[in-house]
Amino acid sequence: MAELKKIPLIIDCDPGVDDAVALFMMMAQDRYEILGITPVNGNKPLENSEKNSLMLCELAGREDIPVLHGAHKAVFAEGRTAGAIHGATGLGGVVLPDPRKQLEKEYAWDFIGRKAKEHPGELEILAIGPLTNLAIALLKYPELAGQVKRIVIMGGGISTGNMTASGEFNIWADADAARIVFRSGIPMAMIGLEVCNEGRIMADEVAALKAGGPVSRVAGQLIGEREERSGGKGAVLCDALAAAYMIDPGVMTEVFDAVVDVETGGFITEGRTVAKRIYREFADEKANTVVCWHIDRPKLAEMIIQLCKKLDG
Ligand code: BDR
Ligand code: CA
Repeated sequence: MAELKKIPLIIDCDPGVDDAVALFMMMAQDRYEILGITPVNGNKPLENSEKNSLMLCELAGREDIPVLHGAHKAVFAEGRTAGAIHGATGLGGVVLPDPRKQLEKEYAWDFIGRKAKEHPGELEILAIGPLTNLAIALLKYPELAGQVKRIVIMGGGISTGNMTASGEFNIWADADAARIVFRSGIPMAMIGLEVCNEGRIMADEVAALKAGGPVSRVAGQLIGEREERSGGKGAVLCDALAAAYMIDPGVMTEVFDAVVDVETGGFITEGRTVAKRIYREFADEKANTVVCWHIDRPKLAEMIIQLCKKLDG
């Protein structure tokens, strides 16, 4: 039987505890071909995002994946980080050997522009950090809007935030960039805070990871630190849900269509993703985003465990 052609993919990220798990999942799956990883200033400064991306590729045995130079601040502002949420380096208490692998010389936005041109109508992007690299790419190469097939983001929330009452970190950290991306016309899928709060990883699932090989053990430690702080509620692992949705959309048990835009000002609403739900029977407007709303939690946990296992060698 002929092998199915893999879908070209770029992963834009700021690892980050949950980014690390999402990267493991994507490096293990075989639906997509990862063309490159484009780190960005986010959870920690850009240097951490870049170094962590290199180390995680090496740990997973995927030194072949190019890691690009990303943006060190927000598109029109200084840029924000997430403080101590992801520990001192971005990877909680996990310490990995310094990378032998080097960053590519090319910048993230030029790489994205080049790859979109090479794969018109096919390239997909998984974005699990602030959307700065993507916004710069869209400003520099406006034709991208007609070339990228889909962007799946972890970001935003319909009714809540985690940095402020309205602002989820990835959107709040560079709201201008997020608005450029949501307004680009590229079909979007959004994994927001509501579904993330539902897709928690529990202590017995962490234990299963910790009993595995090198990649599973690192995932177990990363997730375990969060699980321990959760008081039995389970670890929230936002970016892993976005990876799971790309690998198997059936992991989501409810999605809906919406027109989503981003509030870039406002005294208390900066960085809010504002959604108008589109009901097909009354459709007078075209949705720009599929909002993921509910998830099959045990299926997500099983995906994480099995995909990490694949990388254990
Ligand atoms: C998002 O912000 C970051 O801290 C996480 O890595 C995730 O991408 C959750 O709000
Ligand atoms: Ca992230």
